[in-house]
Amino acid sequence: MMNFFHIFSFVFISSILGCAAISSETKVLSSTESLSLSPNRNIVSHGAVFELGLFKPDHSSLERWYLGIWFKTEKTYIVWVANRDKPLSKPNGTLQIKNGNILLLDQTTLVWSTNVTTTEKKSDERSPLVAELHADGNFVLRRHSSNSNDHHHDPDSTFLWQSFDFPTNLLLPYTKLGWTRRSGRSSVLRSWKNDHNDPSSGEFSFGFDSASQFRAIPAIFTWKGTSPINRFSPWLGAFTYGIPRESPSRYLTFTLTATKEEVTFFFSWADKTSKSVLKLNATGVIQLLVLNAKNRRWDTLWTSTTDRCEDYSLCGPDSYCDKEVCNCMSGFEPKNPHAWTSGNRRDGCVRKRPLSCNNGDKFIPLSNVKYPDTSNASMHWGIEKLNECEKLCLSNCSCTAFAIVAKQVGNGLSGCVHWTGELLDVRRYVINVNQILYVRSHG
Ligand SMILES: *[C@@H]1O[C@H](CO)[C@@H](O)[C@H](O)[C@H]1NC(C)=O
Ligand SMILES: *[C@@H]1O[C@H](CO)[C@@H](O)[C@H](O)[C@H]1NC(C)=O
Ligand SMILES: *[C@@H]1O[C@H](CO)[C@@H](O)[C@H](O)[C@H]1NC(C)=O
Ligand SMILES: *[C@@H]1O[C@H](CO)[C@@H](O)[C@H](O)[C@H]1NC(C)=O
Ligand SMILES: *[C@@H]1O[C@H](CO)[C@@H](O)[C@H](O)[C@H]1NC(C)=O
Repeated sequence: MMNFFHIFSFVFISSILGCAAISSETKVLSSTESLSLSPNRNIVSHGAVFELGLFKPDHSSLERWYLGIWFKTEKTYIVWVANRDKPLSKPNGTLQIKNGNILLLDQTTLVWSTNVTTTEKKSDERSPLVAELHADGNFVLRRHSSNSNDHHHDPDSTFLWQSFDFPTNLLLPYTKLGWTRRSGRSSVLRSWKNDHNDPSSGEFSFGFDSASQFRAIPAIFTWKGTSPINRFSPWLGAFTYGIPRESPSRYLTFTLTATKEEVTFFFSWADKTSKSVLKLNATGVIQLLVLNAKNRRWDTLWTSTTDRCEDYSLCGPDSYCDKEVCNCMSGFEPKNPHAWTSGNRRDGCVRKRPLSCNNGDKFIPLSNVKYPDTSNASMHWGIEKLNECEKLCLSNCSCTAFAIVAKQVGNGLSGCVHWTGELLDVRRYVINVNQILYVRSHG
């Protein structure tokens, strides 16, 4: 196995010759060597798009150093941070593989570790481990295969650890966010405290709610602390996912997968040659940022907040938000009329008359909506006819609304959704989204 000095001379020579990608060795950390990191000693990915090493945020005056991954040509754009809450005080650290883990040491003290629990048998220990940065920006720990060509085709199930399972505040294209059976965990994004100078854990997070993997209808939220502030409804198809925009959303695809093996989300951007990220910024907004090759600036091409109606449950239960105005659903009135008229809508609405709970009830359609929070909803797969879905809802006293969810591009979701209890976080759209909610009301 090659040692790190050789690897380093490779990088050095390759840059002198001006040759970008030279060989896979430039990106491999072996378990027999340790790498002394400094601001100009890094690990480079295949294709030399990404680089891993120590950095200090550009606008930070503090001596706080982090192990991170960035775009090699855009050093200021950090896509992943290992030790975000435990910086080094000097630009001097050691990266090594020990006891089945990647470790970052500050001289002699352990600062960060991949913290993989080893369940290996003794006989496996002969097979050495290597860490490398892949062309897609994924930093992985894997077993060194005897056939040196093998690892290019390793399915990710063979990685003992990968940085893609532990994203920081952003996703790269095709990086999956959420729960997979393979990883046994659910990943979320957490914002930086300050986008300019502080990568430590901020107050905003973005991901599936923790119960998603046990539900038929997963949804994605942005939270401030533990309070939801935005909800991305899964029913608007692969193109817009919750917040329809005319442009450029037809180039931006959000893909949700909900199976027994995974409940995940990823984004892809039509222009594969451009560098793009989906970022949760320090003020809780999701931004699609694309590098503008001409002026080398990051253009914001899409953001999660479009108007106040996207604020989670702005108008309280059993109401809907329409052009930034709160309305009670048909058959409902403000719960607290005084607060409602003075602008505090959080209490929402209540029924004017209780449900009769038999065939006396009727359903009032509300068109062009974002469907209510599905936390307590149930899905009846295969029931696609309106009258069947309605009958089923009528037959159950706790059913308060229903909708037929049409087949979506790609993931083929289809069936009848029933909501129980209060209807939360409903809004109407100006553009046509072809989604109708049938709200139960006294007949
Ligand atoms: C980094 O740490 C090593 C080990 O303690 C030391 O030998 C070296 O001089 C340090 N380098 C710098 C630039 O501080
Ligand atoms: C490592 O993992 C264990 C078990 O999952 C956890 O209790 C511990 O806090 C982790 N340590 C670090 C440094 O993340
Ligand atoms: C987050 O993104 C929004 C929308 O692009 C922007 O208005 C806001 O200033 C950003 N926040 C930070 C801290 O950059
Ligand atoms: C779901 O039900 C629980 C328990 O009744 C309730 O606390 C929660 O607010 C409900 N969530 C929604 C979105 O209706
Ligand atoms: C009515 O709906 C609730 C909530 O979906 C469910 O728990 C309950 O089993 C249903 N009752 C009947 C009789 O189907």
